[in-house]
Amino acid sequence: MNRIVAKEFLSENVVKLIVEAPAVSQKQNPGQFVIVRTDDKGERIPLTIADADKKNGTITLIIQRVGTTSHKLCNMHPGDFLHDLSGPLGRPTHIEKLGTVLACGGGVGIAPLFPIARAFKEAGNRLITVLGARNRELLILEKEMGAFADEVIVMTDDGSYGKKGVITVGIEEVLKRESVQLAVAIGPAIMMKFVALLTKKYDIPTIVSLNTIMVDGTGMCGACRVSVGGKTKFVCVDGPEFDAHEIDYDEMIKRLSTYKEEEKASYDGYLKTLS
Ligand SMILES: Cc1cc2nc3c(=O)[nH]c(=O)nc-3n(C[C@H](O)[C@H](O)[C@H](O)COP(=O)(O)OP(=O)(O)OC[C@H]3O[C@@H](n4cnc5c(N)ncnc54)[C@H](O)[C@@H]3O)c2cc1C
Ligand code: FES
Repeated sequence: MNRIVAKEFLSENVVKLIVEAPAVSQKQNPGQFVIVRTDDKGERIPLTIADADKKNGTITLIIQRVGTTSHKLCNMHPGDFLHDLSGPLGRPTHIEKLGTVLACGGGVGIAPLFPIARAFKEAGNRLITVLGARNRELLILEKEMGAFADEVIVMTDDGSYGKKGVITVGIEEVLKRESVQLAVAIGPAIMMKFVALLTKKYDIPTIVSLNTIMVDGTGMCGACRVSVGGKTKFVCVDGPEFDAHEIDYDEMIKRLSTYKEEEKASYDGYLKTLS
């Protein structure tokens, strides 16, 4: 059982939890994730390891409330225990010194981007981050990214903070003015699709971290399968990172909505138990 030692709201629907997980904290690398359950009947959901503290044996999870399990997690408190947590899972990000790296995060995608961006900076790259959110209240980790990034550009859809516009507007501004050796984009599937189209136009190698539905996290259930370069890949064991220009995003987006009705029924039922 993994004890929650601290909790902080980063925005109205995004919570940061610090969780005891000594073995995971020692072994994890940027880009990896864990699968957690809140209770013995609960579903297993994947969450990126946003940060780790080897000395204290803890990891940081940043969770956006979107449905039953993420809501349950956001309602947990310091002292509560997760039922189980397995990991670290997935392949770590390949970090190297390339020159200038553009790290693009949309919404809660900024959380998984954080350790990857920091690792590229620590490897000696110039790091520019472009952070996108629907509005000011939904923007997370701007200050934390600013602590190590050479430049942070903030885009909000409604113009309530930073520059007005979608994230690709901010990204194109950078691509027009300077040479970039690698782009990393993490966020909603639709955002990653449009970032990939843009960076392909500028011929910039790009990686994305995919957020498919997962069940076992071992490559056996098939829930997380995606088409990459015309081949079937499993996000849990082959990813979660892939060449952004090779993904069939439309198929992935369709598969993400497979259980929409069941998810809604589950969430409505859960919300009733709270009222
Ligand atoms: C490798 C990986 C790392 C992830 N890291 C994080 C993280 O650090 N923080 C975080 O908040 N979320 C992360 N996710 C997404 C998270 O797992 C889902 O949001 C979660 O499973 C939703 O569960 P739920 O029961 O709350 O909602 P559900 O009832 O399952 O879904 C509610 C709504 O969210 C959508 N949804 C469901 N699963 C996903 C998904 N995997 N990605 C995007 N939308 C989804 C559904 O279409 C539905 O509209 C990650 C996913 C993967 C694959
Ligand atoms: S989650 Fe089952 S194969 Fe990836």
